[in-house]
Amino acid sequence: MKPSIKGAWGFPREGVIVAIDVARVRADTPGCEKVLHLNNAGASLPPRAVVERVKAHLDLEAAMGGYEAADRMAEESERVYRSIAGMLGCAAEEIALVESATRAWDAAFYALAEGFETGDKILAAANEYVSNYLAFLQVARKRGVEIVVVPSEENGEISLTALERVLDQHGQRVKLIALTHVPSNGGLIQPAAAVGRVARANRVLFLLDACQSAGQMPLDVEELGCDMLSATGRKYLRAPRGTAFLYVRRSLAEQLEPMPLDMRSATWTARDEYVVRKDARRFETWESSLACRLGLGVAVEYAMEIGLENIAERVTMLAERLRDELAAIAGVKVLDLPGDGRRKRCGIVTFTHERHAAHAIFERMREQRINVRVTSVGSTRIDMEERGLTEMVRASVHYYNTEDELGRFALAIRGL
Ligand SMILES: Cc1ncc(COP(=O)(O)O)c(C=O)c1O
Repeated sequence: MKPSIKGAWGFPREGVIVAIDVARVRADTPGCEKVLHLNNAGASLPPRAVVERVKAHLDLEAAMGGYEAADRMAEESERVYRSIAGMLGCAAEEIALVESATRAWDAAFYALAEGFETGDKILAAANEYVSNYLAFLQVARKRGVEIVVVPSEENGEISLTALERVLDQHGQRVKLIALTHVPSNGGLIQPAAAVGRVARANRVLFLLDACQSAGQMPLDVEELGCDMLSATGRKYLRAPRGTAFLYVRRSLAEQLEPMPLDMRSATWTARDEYVVRKDARRFETWESSLACRLGLGVAVEYAMEIGLENIAERVTMLAERLRDELAAIAGVKVLDLPGDGRRKRCGIVTFTHERHAAHAIFERMREQRINVRVTSVGSTRIDMEERGLTEMVRASVHYYNTEDELGRFALAIRGL
């Protein structure tokens, strides 16, 4: 038998799908003792190593000064970029670190939008996230650009046939395909790689919002065929709040001038001159929380050591189990797409209850220290309206949740 290679946290690194040592990861997660956390699509419970890294850096800043502490941690700070690049299959120069997924996405989108003209088209899917859609609306209003929502298949996925048809119809006027990989309101995983292939074949830029998929499943920017990808640290990656990153393909970054600039993104070279950085860090700001960034680096390495395939496998299994348990409760309707059971769904589980409003369920669960969330029409308006929904309870699982916890949650719902 091959000896098992262990990583920094002692997880086996066989490179094949293995069962996650749940007792180990729970022991590594202080929050597991305190709450039944099913709000991982909001912000998940961080591992102890992440929390300790953040605290240690804050202590260092307090002891020696913030700039001096940053100088001392310069090498580890660089490693954060390399770790994220390793996770996405790109180069460290193609990564920018920012404070939220929306800022990451905006940095790419608004830079692109500088080149948009009246009559240009942005293609999106029905599950696009609110903040992205607000940006579309603003740019549409200011620049006369048109947003085209590509119809979905019956199972909720973006229709590739419709996408091809819209591309044929509008030709050169299509300036961008934007897609939310996993919506904030359910189990759907959009066929991002297939969309990426269509985008490449048509030479249209592809911006992928991977806010909910990063840390939940493997992501490879080449396979996905995206030119830009945005994600947060605090959700499935289990990093601190206020951390996020943007990937921009090397050849594209140089063509996109960030709005606005600062001394991180550009250099003031003469009284009337400036030069913008060449790499993706042109989308960063000079000031940031290094403590949180170092925490992000640890979170990414931790996820990679457990293995994103392993994580995806367990998260999917737990979510399907939860759907089955909930569906067996009278009055509960599980609403995750695709509802045909033929496609893999992710860790986000959504449902309504015939006799209890989503907000009331949220409150009742909170009393029992069970964290769920309400997802409302305003976050994913097009999809929710198309399905006639105004709000749902969202219970999002992570690999550190247990079947026992899901049983307890189902019992709590049954007892409403
Ligand atoms: C799909 C999706 N995109 C983007 C965001 C925005 O992320 P942030 O709050 O870090 O800006 C969220 C947040 O819930 C999301 O679910």
